[in-house]
Amino acid sequence: MDLLRNMCERLEQRYPELVRFRRDLHMYPELSFREVETPKKIAEYLTRLGIGVRTGVGGRGVVGTLKGAKPGKRIALRADFDALPIQDEKEVEYKSRVPGVMHACGHDIHTASLLGAAAVLSEFRHEIAGEVVFIFQFAEEEVPGGAIHMIEDGCLDGVDEIYGAHVWAHLPVGTIGVIPGRAMAAGDRFEIEIIGRGGHGAKPHVTVDALFVGCQLVNSLQSIVSRQVDPLQSAVVTVGTFHAGKAYNVIAGDAVIGGTVRTFDEDVRNAVEASIRKMTDAVCTIYGAQAVVRYERGYPVLENHPEPIRKVEQCAVRLVGEEKVLRPQPSMGMEDFAYYLRKVPGAFFYVGGGNEQIGAVYPHHHPKFDVDESAMLTIGKMFLSLVMNPQ
Ligand code: NI
Repeated sequence: MDLLRNMCERLEQRYPELVRFRRDLHMYPELSFREVETPKKIAEYLTRLGIGVRTGVGGRGVVGTLKGAKPGKRIALRADFDALPIQDEKEVEYKSRVPGVMHACGHDIHTASLLGAAAVLSEFRHEIAGEVVFIFQFAEEEVPGGAIHMIEDGCLDGVDEIYGAHVWAHLPVGTIGVIPGRAMAAGDRFEIEIIGRGGHGAKPHVTVDALFVGCQLVNSLQSIVSRQVDPLQSAVVTVGTFHAGKAYNVIAGDAVIGGTVRTFDEDVRNAVEASIRKMTDAVCTIYGAQAVVRYERGYPVLENHPEPIRKVEQCAVRLVGEEKVLRPQPSMGMEDFAYYLRKVPGAFFYVGGGNEQIGAVYPHHHPKFDVDESAMLTIGKMFLSLVMNPQ
């Protein structure tokens, strides 16, 4: 354990460097599938450490590989690096310099943390048994996501275990959140186009009012979760957009409804999709409208593997103490780390970043989102300890 302690101390010494790197990413965020400078900065950093780097993985991903001095497992660690189309409204000197784009989910924190861990591991490479694969992933925020493309391009080849972390504003800084089993939901997107027949607002009987049909449909869709899904299962059907009509005295000829479905079980997921299609057909038939349903599957359920999540828990308890290891509820949010866990054993965990004293109180994807940067040390130390404690 002395070795790990030394490594953690080295990471602490590098903290100012991590903060600098994170703030630079924060000031110059890049949207999903449009990352250009961020992967370059990551590759440069890894190259300076003497870590073998492959760029353009699956499109825009960066993978570093560090060979230890002794034989052993190949362990992968993953960080994502894309930002969101949100205007930064924080008043800090490292506020985003790119209008309408912001690191509002903490992916800058993930990337800087993993680079910190890579720096320390490269210093101690003679002590490492096996290999460490550093996966820097583009486009987590936008379906189909970067993970699936990086996997297709071989980033998991030969990997025995994988770990990933998310800084979590809802947990206080200094804590670690562990969720065994199913931790995050599958997320799908749907768009329903209702085709009616427009006309004069005073002559409804010769039209098919798409706006009215849409209202009936939105109400009906809400009965899927309340009346069709087993109450002991979880599901969300959210309608987030409804566009219809152009003038107050004209009946709308078409309407478009958009929404998302979140589930934790593949059977429930299939059933909800089928219900949406059936209800759309039925409601439109009643009122003489037609419909086109586009249903797009997003990320699958993120399910932690039993042994790896136990290892995460053990490392977390050693690092922050039993009372600071929290067991949050699973989240209906989604995360494309789920794809890695479908290929190799591994686990995803949460690291507290909330801190009222510095105003880090806003939820993820909020224009004032920020976290306590010291969470980078916790993430980095967790990564170090996961690598140095093979199962
Ligand atoms: Ni995120």
